[in-house]
Amino acid sequence: MKQNEFKKRRLELMRQVGKGNIAVIASASNQTRNRDVEYPFRQDSDFYYLTGFNEANSLAVFIPGREQGEYIIFCQEFDEKKALWEGAHAGLEGATKHYEADDSFPISDIDDILPGMLENKAKVFYPMGRNGELDHQILEWISYLRKQSRNGTNAPGELVSLEHILHEMRLIKSAAELRLMRKAADVSCKAHTRAMQYCKPGLYEYQIEAEIVHEFMDNGLKYVAYPSIVAGGKNACVLHYIDNKDKLKKGDLLLIDAGAECDHYAADITRTFPVSGCFRPAQRRLYQLVLDAQYAAIEQIKPGVSWNKAHEASVEVLTTGLVELGVLKGRVSKLIKDEKYKQFYMHKIGHWLGMDVHDVGDYKVDNEWRLLEPGMVLTIEPGLYIPLDCKTVDAKWRGIGIRIEDDVLVTKKGYEVLTDALPKEIDEIEKLMQAN
Ligand code: GLY
Ligand code: MN
Ligand code: MN
Repeated sequence: MKQNEFKKRRLELMRQVGKGNIAVIASASNQTRNRDVEYPFRQDSDFYYLTGFNEANSLAVFIPGREQGEYIIFCQEFDEKKALWEGAHAGLEGATKHYEADDSFPISDIDDILPGMLENKAKVFYPMGRNGELDHQILEWISYLRKQSRNGTNAPGELVSLEHILHEMRLIKSAAELRLMRKAADVSCKAHTRAMQYCKPGLYEYQIEAEIVHEFMDNGLKYVAYPSIVAGGKNACVLHYIDNKDKLKKGDLLLIDAGAECDHYAADITRTFPVSGCFRPAQRRLYQLVLDAQYAAIEQIKPGVSWNKAHEASVEVLTTGLVELGVLKGRVSKLIKDEKYKQFYMHKIGHWLGMDVHDVGDYKVDNEWRLLEPGMVLTIEPGLYIPLDCKTVDAKWRGIGIRIEDDVLVTKKGYEVLTDALPKEIDEIEKLMQAN
């Protein structure tokens, strides 16, 4: 991502924060795994969105109209020893030179410098309640300033959530963001295709997971956007199954929910296919029903349509189909009203997608489902999950879990499926798998 993109975002943020106010946001911190070993670092999405700065132990400050510079980074000073053991880091000079901060200071001096920046500001915008340490620091700094009031300084009187501004911005994707999301989507499609081609009975779920990760990394994407779900047979009925440790059985379906991350942007794809390459009759019927529900939901996507329309379309198709198959009994409208489908379809149709897999942005505005706008990206992922011990349905349906998930961009005229390259029609999947 070019620096100019980050700059545009900062200018927009500062326009909304307004002169006389200040915004503060902290980076993610390193998390210890054990002793001196850390978990892989992943920058805080909001912080990265505004700075492109990929270091822990940093803090960005935005002060619209400040003469000495509006954008300030606090970070670790350059340290030869750290560079030797851990590798490159920007240091104060790098923060201004490469990340275009107007000013930079050592993070260790923050308690001496930041209160002065808060002085005489009316409002402090920050991500409230998300980072206990920052919450605490801000209150400490304000309390310090209050004690100075006899010297004629004013402490900020209002704390405002930064997220509202920032998350509305993040909800609408720019061309530069979409380029990264397309790459994440394309590589993830390739990884799912590879998994379908590689899959056979007797392999373990984690061996399929390894194929997926191999394809991500082979294409330059080092990180998964979320832990991959590789769930054979009944494991697919556990919505967030990530153990990925069982042996794949002939006759079972395999549900894979996996997506790569490309420079902090996620893909999120699910496919369900037969371990042996050929759907059994009951699997085929349930699969086609989920696929029909997915098509019906995607067809709803266009600007001006309520977020919930796609969900409603999926509920209608799934409930009607389940009645036709004898899985649900009763009148469709009554079953929908009583939410009887929820025992087999217990989640919503999808979610916003972006830097976070479950991305930011409100789903309701003034208590009404939000209307779609060009540049929003969402997943469409209906599913059916029939537990093994579900005595109310015929045995042939039990233990089957199916989800089909694609990533959809709202365009000016309607939609574009970013993950369209990956087969999902029954014939296409069988052909691909049997070609090996
Ligand atoms: N992969 C998580 C989800 O589909 O929401
Ligand atoms: Mn998913
Ligand atoms: Mn999803």
